[in-house]
Order: sequence, then structure tokens, then C-alpha cells
Amino acid sequence: MLFGHELAWKEQDIYDEIYENSIQNFNEFWAFHSKDIAFSRQPSSIFDKATGKWLSGAAGNICYNCVDKHAIATPKKPAIIWHGDLPGERELVTYSELLNKICSISSILRLSGIKKGDVVAIYMPMVPDAIAAMLACARIGAIHLTIFAGFSPSALAYRIEMSNAKILLTYKKASRSGKTIDLLGNCQKALSEIKGKTPKILVLDDEDIYLNVSINRDVVECDSDDNLFILYTSGSSGKPKGIIHSGLPFLLYAATTFKFIFDAKSDDVYFCTSDIGWITGHSYIAYAPLFQGLSIVIFEGNPTYPSPDRYWDIIENESVTLFYTSPTALRTLQAFDENYIKSRDLSSLRILGSVGEPIDEKTWNWFFEAVGKRRCPIVDTWWQTETGGIILAPLLDLKRQKPCVVGKPFFGIAPKIIDAKDEFSLGRLTITNKWPGMCSSILYECPEDIGACVNIFNKNYLKDGLFLTGDGAFYDTDFDIKVTGRLDDVLNISGHRLSSAEFEDAINKVRGVKECAIVPVAHEIKGQAAFAYVVKSDNVSDEELRNEIASALRSGIGPIARPDFIAFVHDLPKTRSGKILRYLLKDIAANKQCTIKDLSSLCNKESIDNIMAETRRCLNGI
Ligand code: PRX
Repeated sequence: MLFGHELAWKEQDIYDEIYENSIQNFNEFWAFHSKDIAFSRQPSSIFDKATGKWLSGAAGNICYNCVDKHAIATPKKPAIIWHGDLPGERELVTYSELLNKICSISSILRLSGIKKGDVVAIYMPMVPDAIAAMLACARIGAIHLTIFAGFSPSALAYRIEMSNAKILLTYKKASRSGKTIDLLGNCQKALSEIKGKTPKILVLDDEDIYLNVSINRDVVECDSDDNLFILYTSGSSGKPKGIIHSGLPFLLYAATTFKFIFDAKSDDVYFCTSDIGWITGHSYIAYAPLFQGLSIVIFEGNPTYPSPDRYWDIIENESVTLFYTSPTALRTLQAFDENYIKSRDLSSLRILGSVGEPIDEKTWNWFFEAVGKRRCPIVDTWWQTETGGIILAPLLDLKRQKPCVVGKPFFGIAPKIIDAKDEFSLGRLTITNKWPGMCSSILYECPEDIGACVNIFNKNYLKDGLFLTGDGAFYDTDFDIKVTGRLDDVLNISGHRLSSAEFEDAINKVRGVKECAIVPVAHEIKGQAAFAYVVKSDNVSDEELRNEIASALRSGIGPIARPDFIAFVHDLPKTRSGKILRYLLKDIAANKQCTIKDLSSLCNKESIDNIMAETRRCLNGI
């Protein structure tokens, strides 16, 4: 039976045959691909329906699979090529050097008392040491909790506290667009906000911590349900939640999707512009590409600093073959003079990828033409932190390229669009079956009570056995899937997932704010921007309150949470029971003419005229 083929993700007929096989013979499909992994103990079953566990009985080590194996076979091959904030800043780390870095960090962690199952927080810039830190945790069976270095000390403190991290790995500073970010200072501030026990900080760019460390090269054997990492993300309710992934099943899913969807070969040079603080940086920077033994290019800076040709310069100089980036970055770059790109030789490129948010047609066409010169298929990959790897992506078939379609389900995945009027209408995207990359559980509200967390998970994500993604989607006439974005109260700003509740929490703490509601509004570059509707409690000036709100968001969440629009209104639209009707605000913010169809559930209709007038003022910059 066919489970793999050179043309599996390239030719519709072959895709169809393997897809059918993978759904009908789901265990055999995953058993076939799990052979790529070096287990120290083979699995006794692939998927155990009774327990919901993957690869039961298996044991192995993720770091061994991603690094040791290549450090033995191809020690001199580049594993990571780092480009810094300024052009010319470059560091090349071979597989053997990467293994040394990892072993130094894992030895330091062991010396600091870290054992299998302990949580290690990582708050670092996009440097090779950050990836080494993640793999060092994997090596000793510790669970890493990576926190995007753009998050504020308060956001860092919340994540550390909720997950009970024992160590915090950081750098003294990060560089971004010529500015220095005081990471160590942020860590110290974060710890001062934690009430209970605080983790010890280890500064990895401090040479002294490596002194007198005898390097231990042992790897710890991990069972298939041992957890590899926690990553916080936003849901539609309340605070961010910690998504937990177990190691071996996660690796199986990330590696298999990467192998097919990016047609990854060991001689590929792969450049992914994400950050290790996000799931893309986990699945498709730190794990799958290294597992396949590729050379990966990472970039610490800003694509437009000091000039908007940083990506093109890197692609040309490193002969990048696979390039995976975000619609926000592409929208930013297409606004600049086309000579920045025309003057570069991008002929090494083979496949382009997009992730994180819907890509608009204009940007897709520009990516296809200006970057890929109509030679490179684009995989617009749809997935989530929870899914561990790509769920939907178009086939790598140049003849069938079409903009903004996330295409086909990955092998073994059976999606279903529910609540749609008919076959081709917008509905809710769900997944009807199980796959190895699915997160194992979540940490939320009561992290010490795992049973309660499981209940919260079930309540938030499962309905009649379906996995609810929170996204809207529909089929086009070729039965390819188009995803329109979130249907719940989650905002997607520059590909960053933030919930309206997180914004509102921070704004409601500002003196002078009576209440507020946040809704997304379309934004030319960022995809979505935050529109804040605020009711004042005191007679504070608009300007003063605007500044207070911006600073509360910066310190509560981080610079990514800057609201683009703040409208001061008399009242928020509410139901009789006091529930804020965000969808109404969303409609008003989206529609500059402000025509509203459905006011039936509204109890304070008189609020609307004022909201419309203030919205118009904000959008017109008055
Ligand atoms: O709304 C979808 C959007 O990003 C959400 C997941 O965010 P996160 O967990 O941070 O993971 C991002 C990287 C995988 C989804 O619910 N999203 C992601 N990729 C796409 C997308 N929306 C449209 N098209 C995509 N290709």
C-alpha cells in the first residue's frame, strides 16, 4: 500500500491515493512514517483508541534524533546560520558545534538541579543558543517554556508562575532595529512580580557560567507521553493558556508534514523568518528541519532595518532553497521599491511558504511573481499552536497554483466544515479525527489541577467528538479549502494571536477607564489591528487616557499589543443581561458607512449613534 512517494505532495493523483490510504489505514500510515525516528524502545501501538495515546510503549530522545545523529554522520555540515540585526553579522554553527552548545547548556541545567519533567523557561533573542537551549531541555527530558522576547515582564511573570518554571534562561540583551532590549532587566522585573517561589536566572551570553562545567553527553530516555514543551497562546476566553506537547508524537507529526509539504531534502537551505517564541519556531525551526538534517538560516533582526532588503540579501548570500515567512512581513516588504528585490539573485529558491494569518490576493501574487518569479510553488499552510504541525496546505504543483487557498488536508487528517449553509458556504472549520501532533493537554486557570485543565480543554475545543479550530472556512469549486480567519474573540495582529480579553484586562486596570471592548479591524500591513472602545469613568483628557492605555498594554502584554484605534464612547452596546455585543462593534469598525442590520438583541440602542460617530472620527484620524 502506498504511504509515501517522491511526488506525494506534487501530483493530485498520487496525493489522492496516499490520502485515501492514510485515512482508511491510519495506524499503518503513521507506523510507516514513524520508522524515520530512532527509538530506543519501539512503540507497541501507534494510536491507542482507549487511552488516546500515540506511540505507546515507545521511548527515545528528541535531541538525539535532531542533532546527535547528524553530528555523527555529517559533523561539519552547517546546522544553523545566524544573521544578526546588522548586515554582515553572521555566525555559522555546524552540527558538531551545535551538539557541543547543547551539551554545555544541558550540563549547566543538570548542575542547577534540573531533572526530567522540570519546566525551564527560555526568554531569548533569535540566536543559535536559543535553539540549543530548547534542544538541551529535550536532551535531559526537561520541558521547555519559550516566551517570545517581545513580551513584557508581566507577561513573562504570568507564564513562569503558571507553569512553575524552575530555571529562566536568558541573554543580557537583544538587538532589534539598532535598539538594545534589556532582556535580563525584563527577567529581573518579571521575578519581582512573582509572589511565590521564583526561578533562578541563567544568562547564556555570560562566559562565566560555562567555566568549570564538565560536559555531560548522556541523553535521557523519554517515553512517548513525556512532555517536550509548553507554549502559551491566546484563546477566546480570559488569560493565555499553556499548550502542552509531548515529544515523540509531536516530532513524528512535525517531521512528516515538513518532509512532504516542503519536499525537504537534506541538501536544502531553509530560511524561516519566525521566532522561537511561536509554534512555527518550534515545529519548523528547532525540530523538523534539524531532524531532517537541513541547514537552517535564522534572522534576529527586522526585515526593513537598516534597509528593506534584508531577507533578499540573506536568500542570495546563503542560496536559500526553502523560504517560509508571514503575510505581514510580505505586505511590509512589497511596499518598497521593487529594485530592492530585482537587484538580487533569488534563483536558488525552490519553494515558498506562508503562515500565521490569511494572505490577501495582492500579496500572494507579489510573493509568487516578484519573489518566486513564477517558478516556485507557494504553500499557504494553515495550522495552530494546538495542532503541532501543518493541517492544510496546497499541493506543490505549479500548474495548479491559485492565491489564498490553504488547499488540502495533510495525510491522515479529516477536516469538516460545519454549520455552513451549503457545500460552498462559510462554516466552522473542525477536524474529525486524531493526529500525532495534537497537543496532549493545556495549562489554564488551575495549572496544578490537571483534571480541571482537561475539562477546560474539552469544553473549549471539543464538540461531539470534533476538534473545533475557532476558524471560519469554506470550499472552493475544486474542493480546496479557504480559511477566512478566527470566528471567536481572538485577534490576529501581524500573525500574533491575542485575545480581546487580554487587551480588555490590561485596559480595565487603567484609572479613568470604566469599561472597554476590543475588536479587530482590517489593517493593510498587519492583517488586523486592535480597535478599542473605551467608556471613561473620570474626567480625564482623551490624550492622557490614550497614553495611559498604550502604556498599560505595553507593560501588561508587550509592544505587539499597541492599539491602533481608541474611541471614547458614552456606552458599549449590550444585551439585557449586560453582555457586550462585540460582533456589533466589529461590524461598525469594519464598515465605514456604518450600516447595521441586526440590532434586535441590543438593549441600549441609543448608544449606537455615538459609537458610529466616534468610530468614524477614529478611522478618519480626526
Ligand atoms: O486563525 C488561524 C491563523 O492563526 C491561528 C493560529 O495561530 P497560532 O496558534 O499562533 O499559530 C500560528 C502559526 C501556525 C489560526 O487559528 N492562521 C494560521 N495560519 C493561517 C491562518 N489563517 C489563515 N491562513 C493561514 N495559512
